[in-house]
This record gives sequence, structure tokens and C-alpha cells, in this order.
Amino acid sequence: MTSIDRRTLITRTAALAAAGMLGGSAAAARRTSPRPPDPRFPDGFLWGAATSAHQVEGNNLNADLWVIENLPNTIYADRSGDAANSFELWPVDLELVKSMGLNSYRFSLEWARIEPDKGHFSGAMLDHYKAIIETCRDRGISPMVTFNHFTTPRWFAALGGWQHADAPSLFARFCDRAARHLAGLIGHATTLNEPNLFGVLGEILPHELVEGDRAMQEAAAKQLGIARYCPGIALYFENLALFRSNQMEGHRQARAAMKAVRGDLPVGVSLAIIDDQAVGPHSIRDTIRQRYYGEWLRFAAQTCDFIGVQNYERKVWDDKGSLPPPAGAQRNAAGAEVWPGSLAGAVRYAWEASRLPVFVTEHGVNTDDDTLRCWLIPLALAELKRAMDDGVPVRGYFHWSLLDNFEWGFGYRPHYGLHSFDPVTFKRSAKPSAGVLGAIARRNSL
Ligand code: BGC
Repeated sequence: MTSIDRRTLITRTAALAAAGMLGGSAAAARRTSPRPPDPRFPDGFLWGAATSAHQVEGNNLNADLWVIENLPNTIYADRSGDAANSFELWPVDLELVKSMGLNSYRFSLEWARIEPDKGHFSGAMLDHYKAIIETCRDRGISPMVTFNHFTTPRWFAALGGWQHADAPSLFARFCDRAARHLAGLIGHATTLNEPNLFGVLGEILPHELVEGDRAMQEAAAKQLGIARYCPGIALYFENLALFRSNQMEGHRQARAAMKAVRGDLPVGVSLAIIDDQAVGPHSIRDTIRQRYYGEWLRFAAQTCDFIGVQNYERKVWDDKGSLPPPAGAQRNAAGAEVWPGSLAGAVRYAWEASRLPVFVTEHGVNTDDDTLRCWLIPLALAELKRAMDDGVPVRGYFHWSLLDNFEWGFGYRPHYGLHSFDPVTFKRSAKPSAGVLGAIARRNSL
């Protein structure tokens, strides 16, 4: 989702003397010291990698997106298909986590598997996720569990998804069932993934993509013989305000359901946060921040035990819009700037705005050049440690992603993984960056 964002965020073409004005050229980025004064992270810091169910499990037949990906007029680049076959190979994935020296793993529950029909819960699927959680614990890995990472069950999308009046209570009922089965051994839970993005992407994406999404929703509804079909990851909304308020209410009720089962379970929400920087007089940065994150950060401050920050980039805003990346900037595979300080910038802002302890629940880079990932990780972590030394309470870092996976509308082309996998044998192979992050995690120090 954010790579759509990355690829298409408005950039003004005016050739401002960007490098000088921004002080953010690639050279400046490379000048960033890899070591803050104290390179050690606090005891108990969580080092992890992240995945989400639909992106790695494969054959997620009851999920809303399966219908969309398989439409004749789909705008999805690929079908998710077998994905990385993690539904079968999760023990191998946990072995990757362990062998890297990480002490935590972030993954998501697939609602469509646990409640394949409205009101019918699968004990076998709850046991499946319980086995993952128990095996994490057996291996000294603290499970950070996302209860919903975008995809919802088909039946939910067929009701109108998050725009249905009962959406919050239906989500909370699922969370209650899942928590009763699983909460005992979960380390940390999040309700929704990046709910702050919905709606704002539609403002900045090319109109054709939003129209394409609308056409797919209509085609899915027609194919299923129903009035409308709205998946959990959408660009087009009949009633955006309702979608957003229902997600907020869903988060509130889901959290209450989890807390009723286990009062001491830390529950948060993960937000997508770009490191928005202001330049020049009358920068629109603060307006942008309010529009993209304000509502959810305020809501999280009232309803969460921690905030999850997901950062992939920075944007520099003057009084008219965002500036193009400076000359010589490091770029990801989609052409967006990769700037190691962006993670710490986003984390500082999330802390200032919410005053909640922070987990970096995602940070990474879309690239086929793993040397870029190897370069990024220690520099970004050094800046993160500086923020911690300045008093920002960061409790853990999860790299996106443990392995290459299904990147939503872009299919299998983007590569975010610390591991690759063979699409036929599903054999995983570590990239050098897995060693880079693993060495830092083992030492608990840069
Ligand atoms: C999402 C992931 C996605 C990643 C890279 C985040 O927006 O949570 O599902 O794969 O960014 O785009």
C-alpha cells in the first residue's frame, strides 16, 4: 500500500535547489554517523521481523482480495496464489527468525480463516495460530500479533465491509474469539494495520487507480450477485467518513474485547507515518501531518498502550507541496528516496503527538539491491538510538519483511525481504541484510 504512496506522492517538478535547501543529499545521508554515543539498546528491547498473513500464507481463498485478484479485469499485477506458502511453512519461517538471532516476530491472524462464514468460527484455524504462538514461545520469540492486516473475510466485504453498520461489532466479535483462544501467550497485540491511510491515498493517487478500484469492486459485486463488495484494502469508498469512523469504533471495541480477556495484554495500533519535514516559510507540513495522522494519533493516545510506527520514507514540504528528492539521493526500486534518518523522524513525531511508548512495527525498503538494505539498517538504527537517547521510549524494532512477499496491487515484483524464496520449491534463502540485522540484534548493540 505504501509503495503506491511512495511511487505516486505528489512531487513538484520545479527544480528547486533541493540538495542545498534540504541538507538531505545522499552525501549528507552517508555522513550520518553509524554510531551514537552509546550504541547499546536497553535490555528487553524487541528485535523482530514482520509479515502479514495474506502476503505470505498463500491460498487464502476466503479472503476478500482473493475475489479481486482473480477478476478478469483486475488491476492487481499478480494473484497471491501460493504466496510464500507460509501457511504450511511457518515453522521454517520461525526458524529463520530464530537463526537471525531475533527475539520477536510480528505476524497477523487471518480473519477469513478463523471466521470463514459469518458467525462460524474454526477451532482448527484458531489452533493453527495457537501453534505458531506456542512455538514462538518455545523458541524464546515474543509474538507481536496483528489482529487485522487489511484483508477481511469475503462475507464481510459482501456486506459492504467497513462501511456496514455492524462492522465494528463484527470485528470485535472476531477479536474476542481470537483473544479467548490466543491471548494468553501473545506478547503484544495490534488491532488494525495503517488505518490512517484509508481515504488520504485516494487524494494523492492518480485518478485511474481509484477508478480501477471502483471498477473492481463493482465487477466483484456483479460476479457474486450482490449489491456491493468492499474489501478491507480499498482505494474507492462510497462513504469514506463511515469507513473511517467504523474503523475507529472497530479498534475501540476490539481493544475492549482483548482487554476483557486479558487486562494486562498491551494493545496498540500501527500507523503509516512518513517523516514529513518542513522547509522554507509557510511550509504546509503541519497541515499534511494533521490530515494524514492527526485524527488517529489523537485517538491512539486515548485508546492504546503503545503506538506502532511504520516508516519507509521522508517527504520535504514547502509552502506549495512536496519537493523532489535531492540530486544523488539513494532510491528504492520505485524511484522514491531512501533516507536513513526518516525512521527516527517519524518515531519522534509519533511520540511527541501521542506520548505513547513506540514500537517500530515496520521499516524497510523495496529493492533488488540488498546492499542498499545492508546500508540502510545500521544507519536508520543509529538515528533511532539517538532518538532513544533523547528520551523517546522506543521498545522494539521490526523489519519489513522477514521474507519477500505479495505486495498487494504490485504483486511479487517488489522485494522487501531479508530472505528471498523460490516460487516453486518455496525454499528460503537469507540475504546478506539478514546477517546485518541479526548481528545487531544478537549484540543488542550497533
Ligand atoms: C504494509 C505492508 C506492505 C508494506 C510495504 C505497509 O504499508 O503494512 O503490508 O507490504 O507497507 O509497502
